[in-house]
Amino acid sequence: MSTDLDPRRMAQAHRERFIEAIGEDAVAVIPAALEQPRNRDVDHPFRQDSDFRYLTAFPEPDAVAVLAPGRREGAFVLFVRDRDPDAERWLGARIGPDGARTAYGADEAWPLQEIDERLPALLADRQRLICPLGRDERWDRQLLRWLQAGRERARGRARAPATVELLDHNLHEQRLVKDDEELEAMRRAAGVSVAAHRRAMQVIEPGMPEYALAAELQHVFQRHGGEAAYPSIVAGGANACVLHYTTQRDTLRDGDLALIDAGAEIDGYAADITRTLPVSGAFSAEQRAVYDVVLTAQQAAIDEVRSGRDFDAFHRRATRILIEGMVELGWLAGDVDGLLEQGAHRRFFPHRTGHWIGLDVHDVGSYAVGGEWRTLAPGMVVTVEPGLYCPPGSEEVAPRWHGIGVRIEDDVVVRDGAPRVLTDAVPKEPEAVEDLMGAVRAAGYEESGAFE
Ligand code: GLY
Ligand code: MN
Ligand code: MN
Repeated sequence: MSTDLDPRRMAQAHRERFIEAIGEDAVAVIPAALEQPRNRDVDHPFRQDSDFRYLTAFPEPDAVAVLAPGRREGAFVLFVRDRDPDAERWLGARIGPDGARTAYGADEAWPLQEIDERLPALLADRQRLICPLGRDERWDRQLLRWLQAGRERARGRARAPATVELLDHNLHEQRLVKDDEELEAMRRAAGVSVAAHRRAMQVIEPGMPEYALAAELQHVFQRHGGEAAYPSIVAGGANACVLHYTTQRDTLRDGDLALIDAGAEIDGYAADITRTLPVSGAFSAEQRAVYDVVLTAQQAAIDEVRSGRDFDAFHRRATRILIEGMVELGWLAGDVDGLLEQGAHRRFFPHRTGHWIGLDVHDVGSYAVGGEWRTLAPGMVVTVEPGLYCPPGSEEVAPRWHGIGVRIEDDVVVRDGAPRVLTDAVPKEPEAVEDLMGAVRAAGYEESGAFE
């Protein structure tokens, strides 16, 4: 696979497939993300909407893409921020309509302020309007105004669209199956995330604040041009039993485990890795016993991520192994099938074993089709992330297990045949974890993993 991934060429391929799929009786109208205020006149760092990015690669806010298959003047129209020397002096160059045409392949591009005037003509004589709805109220209201304007115009000659279809329904099926270039982008996000986790394993030490370890992860993400794909979870001891613990204010203590769930977003694509390590560098007997159950479940579940199996198969496999393990550990009592039927495992394993991953860390695409779990196919990418969590105060469980939380998570590509694990260069066999942690204590930290 070549190393030059051109987001614009990727978007063009996505767009051509989408235009072909929706057909000439449809028109799609897709907005860019909005700037989100953080406080007063400061915005959060801008992140492009994933659907918009997938189809256009255009990186600015205040833009709308119109895709009108078969249109004589060209199918791809972009409305974008106009050039503005005063604003650009403060905030940097804008691409502008000319750049949208020459650099982003738009057949036509116009300043966004012309959209009210130009959109009705683009919608006219199309049966179906495809757009996002229900994500942002301002957009929904704007869309209704355009449809109304289209109807008024339709009293003349042109017909306005008769049906509105959700973009999700159309585009997200396409996004679910990644092409080769997307898989390469995901391999890169995985590589940076691997480097970050390896660094965390090597620099962790008792007494460190959780946020300081999170900073070590962030350092690697950013040094490779990325950012965190989601708020990093760095959870010492019993904090690991809080599934989305993001506070990062506690101290990592000798004798505790640290659960690290963190992944980079590189060129828009996410990775999502969890490892659970002993802060001191060596697992206790109880920690190791729980860890071994989770690792066995994870490895068996990864092997179920195969073309032709249903999306739930790897969850079923992990759940059964976790229940067997919980019976052995004495956390649950009873026969495995009965416990499974009652859902007894949910007390200690309250989440599913995985999710789609792609441009979004919890990526788009439905998990079931026609009431049945979806069948896995090559190019789909899932996480596999079983865990066991015994919160403090868990009744009927011996206190020595209290406060132990373990999750192990990798990103796995469905292929013909054996699955491909994108993130397996972070050690997870307990001896390998201890070895990497021990080696660095002896020899000093050395970064490795990114883009290997
Ligand atoms: N990091 C969120 C998740 O594992 O799903
Ligand atoms: Mn995760
Ligand atoms: Mn995940």
